[in-house]
Amino acid sequence: MSDKFKEHFDSIAEEYDDEREDFSKMEAMVLIYSCGKIKGCKILDIGTGTGIIALEFAKRVGNEDEVIGIDISESMLKIAKKKAKEIGVNNIKFKVGSFTNIPLTNESVDIIVSSAALHHVKPQEKLNAFKEMWRVLKIGGRIVINDAMYENEEWRSIFIDMDLLKRHLEKIGFPKERMDMTLGLTKTSVGLIGTFRDEYVESVGAIKKYAEEAGFKGIKIKVTFKPLPAHWVLKAKKL
Ligand SMILES: C[S@@+](CC[C@H](N)C(=O)[O-])C[C@H]1O[C@@H](n2cnc3c(N)ncnc32)[C@H](O)[C@@H]1O
Repeated sequence: MSDKFKEHFDSIAEEYDDEREDFSKMEAMVLIYSCGKIKGCKILDIGTGTGIIALEFAKRVGNEDEVIGIDISESMLKIAKKKAKEIGVNNIKFKVGSFTNIPLTNESVDIIVSSAALHHVKPQEKLNAFKEMWRVLKIGGRIVINDAMYENEEWRSIFIDMDLLKRHLEKIGFPKERMDMTLGLTKTSVGLIGTFRDEYVESVGAIKKYAEEAGFKGIKIKVTFKPLPAHWVLKAKKL
């Protein structure tokens, strides 16, 4: 586990929702749609942060079902707990934990979701992260992971260079009126470039291999926004 990310998210926890709430809510919809049936399921959200995604799941599963959000940053979790209390969502718990050390017993959850967090795990720890998800998942359970990935080295180069990114969008005839917004939005572009340059984003192939090696079956990885294939959703099952 990286102290660098814990310190970073501890330090930005108070402002996180101002910057990211709308974006993370959109990502929550992608995950909810990708999960299929969630009623009657115990759901774990890894790298839950301020709980934006976990809370959306908790509002949609049954009252008897449970959502657990884990994160390495206690400051992010503090905000998540406060929000759950304020909006009166009771079927949710937040705990300190990480991809490689999940504070749950074997075969105890039906679905594991995660958004924008796996790329904080070092390449040499990613296989362990998938093995740990496998351990806590019930037989028949599934993982749905949304994260930054790249298809090949050419795409990786585009995502770490704002000029290349702009040229690529021009080349594919990306609408001019959406260009500035797309480049400026993130946090889209600045966040995207920083994420690909400074964090542990890996290729779609590498991530698929970790999932396979950990034992997952039926692995499918789909891009979420085609003109800019930077974010992907991985779905897989423990059979
Ligand atoms: C960009 S935020 C995403 C938060 C939330 N999933 C969302 O979409 O709003 C990444 C989160 O991952 C957490 N994180 C980083 N490394 C982690 C690890 N190894 N295990 C669990 N969480 C981790 C960070 O503390 C942070 O809260």
